[in-house]
Amino acid sequence: MARADYKFEYKGSLKEKAMVFAADKITFSDDGESYNVMMDWEAPIMKQSANFVTHGGRSQTILELGFGMGISAEYIQSYSPDLHTIIEYHPGIAERAQVFADRKNREYSRSKETQHKRVNIISGKDWFAEFQKDFRNSGLIQYHGIFIDTYNDQNLSKIKDYITKLLSPGGRMTWWNPMQDILPSVELQEERNITYEQIKLSEFGIKSIPTNKYHTTDIYYMPMYTREGKKELYEPKEGEGGYQPAPGDGIGIIGKG
Ligand SMILES: C[S@@+](CC[C@H](N)C(=O)[O-])C[C@H]1O[C@@H](n2cnc3c(N)ncnc32)[C@H](O)[C@@H]1O
Repeated sequence: MARADYKFEYKGSLKEKAMVFAADKITFSDDGESYNVMMDWEAPIMKQSANFVTHGGRSQTILELGFGMGISAEYIQSYSPDLHTIIEYHPGIAERAQVFADRKNREYSRSKETQHKRVNIISGKDWFAEFQKDFRNSGLIQYHGIFIDTYNDQNLSKIKDYITKLLSPGGRMTWWNPMQDILPSVELQEERNITYEQIKLSEFGIKSIPTNKYHTTDIYYMPMYTREGKKELYEPKEGEGGYQPAPGDGIGIIGKG
């Protein structure tokens, strides 16, 4: 992730940085400056993002860009999708992602009902390069849900060119929103077909956000995009209007919901 107005000053590629793994964050240093790649206070944002892209467990194929501490991956796995593909660029983080995938796949292999389920790591690759390959060469498919949480990502805005390729009609996508507490106008939201859920971090017990350079406000606006299509992937049941926040989370829906 990154804040929209924050300028990254580090030299070279993220891939070459020596990551420091602590219990509560991943950091690296460059020229005396420390950079936070991921911090555990973001868990409520990761939880809600996982809930949205998995459609509360209805989506069976999920693509995740960026493993980090694996917090969102663990939340996605709590819904046991059939396929969870993770593209992770940094080799040290990708190694950890592979340990995570091996553990999940071992658990799945123990029961007949779950034998078909898979966590698949695309290791040491940049998602943008993989998106340009055909499916046979990338190992990707078209997914029911996509969660994007990369870092200092210069190609993020190009993701829209790949939506029809990578996201099923009726599929859901969310990404790290770097805009802090600023929302686009209602007109722009409608034009882009994106709505926002308001996540109030204090309601999740986060009274003061640890120092960081990408998010400092109590409210995080989670973007919610659903690909339109001839056929809805999921028929909502009666009374089930659309996205439902996880019970007890006290979250308000902004926009069209
Ligand atoms: C903010 S962390 C992800 C945090 C994760 N959602 C979690 O819950 O722990 C960003 C991750 O994206 C990875 N990353 C950065 N650029 C990438 C790219 N172009 N393609 C794939 N992964 C990338 C980083 O190495 C890092 O592991």
